Amino acid sequence: MNPFPLEHVIESQQFDRDLLDIVFRTANQLKADLYGDRRYAKSLEGKILASLFYEPSTRTRFSFESAMLRLGGAVITTENAREFSSAAKGESLADSTRIMSGYADVIVMRHNEAGSASRAADISSIPVINAGDGAGQHPTQALLDVYTIADTFSGIKNLKIAMVGDLRYGRTVRSLAYLLTKYENVEIIFVSPPVCKMEGDIKAYLNKYEILWREETDLDAVSPEVDCIYMTRIQKERFHSLEDYNAAAGKYILTPERVQAMKPNAIIMHPLPRVNEIPKEVDNDPRARYFDQAQNGLFIRMALLYLLLNKDRNG
Ligand code: CP
Repeated sequence: MNPFPLEHVIESQQFDRDLLDIVFRTANQLKADLYGDRRYAKSLEGKILASLFYEPSTRTRFSFESAMLRLGGAVITTENAREFSSAAKGESLADSTRIMSGYADVIVMRHNEAGSASRAADISSIPVINAGDGAGQHPTQALLDVYTIADTFSGIKNLKIAMVGDLRYGRTVRSLAYLLTKYENVEIIFVSPPVCKMEGDIKAYLNKYEILWREETDLDAVSPEVDCIYMTRIQKERFHSLEDYNAAAGKYILTPERVQAMKPNAIIMHPLPRVNEIPKEVDNDPRARYFDQAQNGLFIRMALLYLLLNKDRNG
């Protein structure tokens, strides 16, 4: 039986514990192989990934493209789909998706509108992977986040995690909150300015799965008690008013002094890019895991591409 039942990767709620374990096991296997005997170096030979990014990206786009190339596949792309695809001439997302379905074996899409990846998946005859849809979700980021947390703490159990910053428009924290419901005895503390608090749909989901959560505004009060501080950027591009943005910007900076107040074995994460919320002086602290976290994106994305595109060979 095929061990990976998903056709598309659109939202974190698609993943249960069994599926998470499959993805993480595959990521471990492909990571070991990448630095080992390269038995999987041609496992996606003949397959093509279309990377359609309507918003900027460094990590997600390049790690997906690198993942595909490292597994022997090929990549077709445009530097900026909003400007250099026929979207600039008014072509609908539906038409672009239908066309790309005929040219590639998988579409990795980042778009500014929440729900866009789901709409594309409805039309596409090939797998669609959501690489971030506006303020909606970023499920592959959440997978690499959970992989990083589990790797650090040898699993995820009895952990307290603070999510800090732009929780209202932050798709990474939304997707991560969904995934954390799959683990035992996890508590989430949302730390944000009043103008960008976590939305009610996530809180309702956490309640449904009996995950403890609370809201705070004082990072100093929270830092010493948590196992993980997940910082996020205040996303200027998503705010509808400059007044709201100014009310949120610069409120939470994880200074070296604040880091000193953290537990010795706690970790600092960030999906990146950062602006000023983590000064570079923190980078050498052993608790800073954000560069390892970004590196893990390569292994997780290799695993997803392998699992989605190797079905006929695994089946
Ligand atoms: N974390 C993340 O999504 O980074 P990019 O915007 O660089 O892809």
